[in-house]
Amino acid sequence: MVTMNRNKVVIVGTGQVGATAAFGIVTHGLCNELVLIDHFAAKALGEAHDLDDGSEFQDRHVKVRAGDYADCKDADIVVITVGRKPPANSTRLAELGFTVGLVGEVVDNVMASGFDGVIVMVSNPVDVMAWYAWKRSGLPRTQVLGTGTALDTSRLKTIIGEETGLDPRNVGGFVMGEHGDSQFTAWSTVSLGGKPFARFLADNQDRFASVSTAEIEEKTRMRGNEIVAAKGGTNFGIASTVAGIVQTILWDERRIVPVSTLLDGEYGEHDVFLGVPTELRANGANEIVELELNAEEQAKLHHSAELVRSYCEGLL
Ligand code: 2OP
Repeated sequence: MVTMNRNKVVIVGTGQVGATAAFGIVTHGLCNELVLIDHFAAKALGEAHDLDDGSEFQDRHVKVRAGDYADCKDADIVVITVGRKPPANSTRLAELGFTVGLVGEVVDNVMASGFDGVIVMVSNPVDVMAWYAWKRSGLPRTQVLGTGTALDTSRLKTIIGEETGLDPRNVGGFVMGEHGDSQFTAWSTVSLGGKPFARFLADNQDRFASVSTAEIEEKTRMRGNEIVAAKGGTNFGIASTVAGIVQTILWDERRIVPVSTLLDGEYGEHDVFLGVPTELRANGANEIVELELNAEEQAKLHHSAELVRSYCEGLL
């Protein structure tokens, strides 16, 4: 008997982020089945119907429906997006008090179904929530990850593209650490057109005289806050990030993505989830890529680790 490759994804939370992530998954036809769960069942049903109505014009028909936690049993991936629109001028870490109870309840309900797939945590503070979900679920470290600095790294590339006029896909490198204010751009890893970024600027001084790495790093770090101030929240960037992570896992693409994953000695850190380059496979977060960070970058990563660990204390 051929076992169907289920390619089944569940999204818990159909607020702006969850619903937009669902739209990305459906329009790209990433899975066979997408189930939406929300505390407000009518919302999940409405989003499912609204998404399904476009089936005629989508790449392939994803069977999308509202469901409940029993649907997690045979799901490959559960995406957790519960939370609230962040207050303006606040930090993601400040969301902990509001989010942790919701995430704990969701993780318990997911695990009660017999789920043995990959949890993709989106809820902020995502590094703390990913650690908490890992501890509370009892799943292996490979099967729990957060979106981490994958979105920040995409923002870095976008902003370098804006500053230089070149396509963001020419940029390599990573933003690492907390998906929050203590994140940092690992400039020693950033390349443009295959050249180290600093060299690219030095070789084109007249053309790029106004380009400042410090300004680019700050713009990247503050991009989320800027968007929240402008429109009350973010959804498209994080939703594309979720869809990209879901695709890489479901299709076993082995892409190296700076998701939030458990450091268990890597980069000299323990018992903390941070955004570091990680190979994503069908079974989740696999090999962590340990880059040759310089002393300044290593110190920034350690600062981020200390900060995130401090917010994990006392949660269990
Ligand atoms: C962001 O930076 C939602 O924290 C996420 O857009």
